[in-house]
Amino acid sequence: MSDITEQKKRIRNCGVVPVLTIESVADAVPLAEALMKGGLDVIEVTLRTAASLDAIKEIASSGLDVFVGAGTITCGSDVGAALKAGSEFLVTPATPDFLVQDLAEFPGLVVPGVATPTEALKLYDQGFDTLKFFPAEPYGGAATLKGLSAPLPNINFMPTGGVKPETMANYLKLPNVVAVGGSWLATDKDIKAGNWDQITALAQTASDAVKAIRSA
Ligand code: 3PG
Repeated sequence: MSDITEQKKRIRNCGVVPVLTIESVADAVPLAEALMKGGLDVIEVTLRTAASLDAIKEIASSGLDVFVGAGTITCGSDVGAALKAGSEFLVTPATPDFLVQDLAEFPGLVVPGVATPTEALKLYDQGFDTLKFFPAEPYGGAATLKGLSAPLPNINFMPTGGVKPETMANYLKLPNVVAVGGSWLATDKDIKAGNWDQITALAQTASDAVKAIRSA
């Protein structure tokens, strides 16, 4: 089994991927620990802040058994920078042609962003079978992915963008959804205030919900 197959399994097992925007490097490891304590061991750090690459570096070298990746990859140079920081997987919000070659050269799992069936099929043809559906709720939510499962049975999705605790079950029940992503698990406010217990509680609620949905 390839590493990438294992990485896909890890995302599926987790079921909910916290999408993090980290402003201060000092928050990175306590945040990862808080999420892990709540049962979530996959973390996407968005490249939207000056601290993001160092935050990935801190988490990747912390010794925590966490699968850490970089999100908001929007240009080719982000790919190399994310890899150098220790990112094990990449996520893009959208996937224009100019990004595809750099993504294809990344040595781990890449989850390119799409919003339409045409984009999904094009990326599948280019070798990507696990895609981020973004922004999920404005683009039709779970109903859209349900509609894609029969015609595109070999493509799996990680819907992100507007997914909430109340709606995550609608997605996770679908055969073509490996996990949902969301920022609700660690809000800017909770991170800045160091509300690690609150973040652990939100993570625990989400990971318990994943288990309940999958055992139903
Ligand atoms: C993002 O990249 O912003 C994620 O999709 C998070 O979306 P959310 O804030 O709606 O959860």
